[in-house]
Amino acid sequence: MTRTDPLQQVRAPIRWPAEAIWEAVTPLLPQFTVEVLPEIDSTNTELMRRARAGQIDPVLLVAERQTAGRGRLGRQWFSGNDESVAAFPPSLMFSLGFPLTPKDWSGLSLAVGLSIVESLHPDLQLKWPNDVWWQSRKLAGILIETASLGDVRYAVVGVGINIAPRDGQGLSTPPASLSELLPEIDAASTLERVVGPLVRAIQQFETQGFAPLRAAFHGRDLLYGQTVQCSDGMTGVARGVDSGGALLVHTENGLKKITSAEVSVRPAHPANPS
Ligand code: BTN
Repeated sequence: MTRTDPLQQVRAPIRWPAEAIWEAVTPLLPQFTVEVLPEIDSTNTELMRRARAGQIDPVLLVAERQTAGRGRLGRQWFSGNDESVAAFPPSLMFSLGFPLTPKDWSGLSLAVGLSIVESLHPDLQLKWPNDVWWQSRKLAGILIETASLGDVRYAVVGVGINIAPRDGQGLSTPPASLSELLPEIDAASTLERVVGPLVRAIQQFETQGFAPLRAAFHGRDLLYGQTVQCSDGMTGVARGVDSGGALLVHTENGLKKITSAEVSVRPAHPANPS
């Protein structure tokens, strides 16, 4: 009896919906291109390199593997892409890059997170500023970076979504995966689901800012009412966000506003570590 290598069975080429995405997004972003790479250090790093070399047309860059994926606050981001999991790749990794000119940048990361959860599932929650969580476990992360290039401000919105279950390398809690909520989903169909709405959400943010999204964020707010501890040591009860997306924390010294550039926040309750 011959045995089939299980990895060869599952690691058939992925049929990325590049054309469908291109057709949906080009009317919104002229000059838009879609590119899929088998491997890159980091899709965010690559788009920043290209932008600094003068390539600033709107682009979606997808990677099947990242060798140096990055997260917020200088952390690494692991995709689990070396594991023999039943779905390959176990994570969806992409970055959108384009020039962006909002009047006020505050709340962009919340707007991006909100668009992602609204595209994926009603039970997903947002852990301020923009982590996607499900049942006390992280399911997706977002890394937004910008560069000033002459008169132009170029933005890179990087998104990593766990599609299949994997080890929690580098995390204190094992991650959640989208396949737990949507068993039929794969990385390609997830990409098709999220990119068009995400581009529209960012364009809406560019003209209207975060304020119109505050109520929707509230409906997905994982931290609301929880005792939280900030990385600067401050503790208090999370009370939602203001119209610029700053986290409101009720502390013994009154209501404090926290912006994502300053601190990270974790629920103080041991059952919900970040
Ligand atoms: C976080 O959880 O802190 C953010 C994680 C962001 C990961 C994505 S994967 C695609 C893009 N490229 C990167 O290097 N990071 C982002």
